[in-house]
Amino acid sequence: MESTSTLRTVLITGCSSGIGLCLAHGLRSAGYRVFTSARKVEDVTKLKKLGFDAFSLDLASSDSIKAAISELYQKTDSLYALINNGAYGQAGALEDISREALEKQFQANVFGWHELTNLVLPSMKEKNIGRIVYISSVLGFVAMPFRGSYVASKFAIEGLVDTLRLELKKTKIKLCLVQPGPIKSKFRENAFLAFKENVDPSNSDYKREYKSMIQRLNSDKNVKFTLAPESVLRCVLHALDSQIPKNRYRVTFPTKLFAFLCRILPSSWMDHILSMSDKGDKD
Ligand SMILES: NC(=O)c1ccc[n+]([C@@H]2O[C@H](COP(=O)([O-])OP(=O)(O)OC[C@H]3O[C@@H](n4cnc5c(N)ncnc54)[C@H](OP(=O)(O)O)[C@@H]3O)[C@@H](O)[C@H]2O)c1
Repeated sequence: MESTSTLRTVLITGCSSGIGLCLAHGLRSAGYRVFTSARKVEDVTKLKKLGFDAFSLDLASSDSIKAAISELYQKTDSLYALINNGAYGQAGALEDISREALEKQFQANVFGWHELTNLVLPSMKEKNIGRIVYISSVLGFVAMPFRGSYVASKFAIEGLVDTLRLELKKTKIKLCLVQPGPIKSKFRENAFLAFKENVDPSNSDYKREYKSMIQRLNSDKNVKFTLAPESVLRCVLHALDSQIPKNRYRVTFPTKLFAFLCRILPSSWMDHILSMSDKGDKD
C-alpha cells in the first residue's frame, strides 16, 4: 500500500494564471500536495509567495523540463499525478502561419507535454499507480477557422493520449482528457500576444476576418457559455479521486453540444456549422 503523501502528490504545468492557478488552489484545498510550475521567473516567485512548492518549467525547452523533474524528485520520491495544462493558442489563418510559428506551437503544446509525460511514467509504472490529466479542448475534436495551429496541437494531444492509454492498458495508470469550451482565463490575452508576434495582418488575405478576431481577442467581455475555471477543477478532482475516471471530461455547453453533433451529423454538415463559428470563442 502506498503512503498517503505518495498518493496525493500532483505536478501542474502553466500555473501562472487561469485554469492552472485555479487547479493549484483547488487541489491544495482538497488535500493534495501540489507542485506548481510556471514558465517565467516572476510567476515562480508569485507561486512561492502563495505558499506553493514551485519550479520554473518552460514546456518549449527540453533542458527546462529535465531540470524541473530533477528538482521535483529531490522533493518527493514519487508523483501520483501529472496535470498537463500549460499551453497557448496561436491565432491566425493557416496560410499566415509560418512553419516556425507552427513548430513553436507544437514545442509548447505537444512536444513538451509528451516529454514531461515520458519523464514521470517510469516512476508511475514502477509503483503501478498514477493519473495523467491532459487539459485538451473542444478544439481537440472539432476544427474552427483561424485557430488551425492550436486545433492541430490539441488534435495531436488527443491522438497521443488515446494511443498511450492503449499501451498502458495492463497498468493501473489512468489517462484522462479534459475538454473545456470557453473558460475565464488569460487565454485570449495570450493568444493575442502570439498573434501579434507571429502573424502580419497587413500582408494577409484575411484582413477583414482579423479585424473581428482582434476585437474578440482584445475584449474583456466573456463569450456566451463561458464558465469559471472551477468547472475544470471539478472534472480534474474526479479524474484524480475516482476509482473509475473517465477517458474524457466535457466541460461547458459548447463542448457537449459539438460532441453530440459530431456523432449524429455528416462531416459536410459539421463544416457548415463550424465555418460560422468564428463569431464565438470556444478555444
Ligand atoms: N480558457 C479557455 O477557454 C480554454 C478552453 C479550452 C482549453 N483550454 C486549455 O486550458 C489550458 C490552460 O489555459 P488557460 O485557459 O488557463 O489560459 P492561460 O490563463 O493563458 O494559462 C495558460 C498557462 O500556460 C502557460 N504556458 C504557455 N506556454 C507555456 C510554455 N511554453 N511552458 C510552460 N507554460 C506555458 C502560461 O504561462 P505564461 O503566463 O508564462 O504564458 C499559463 O500559465 C491550456 O491547455 C488551454 O489550451 C483553455
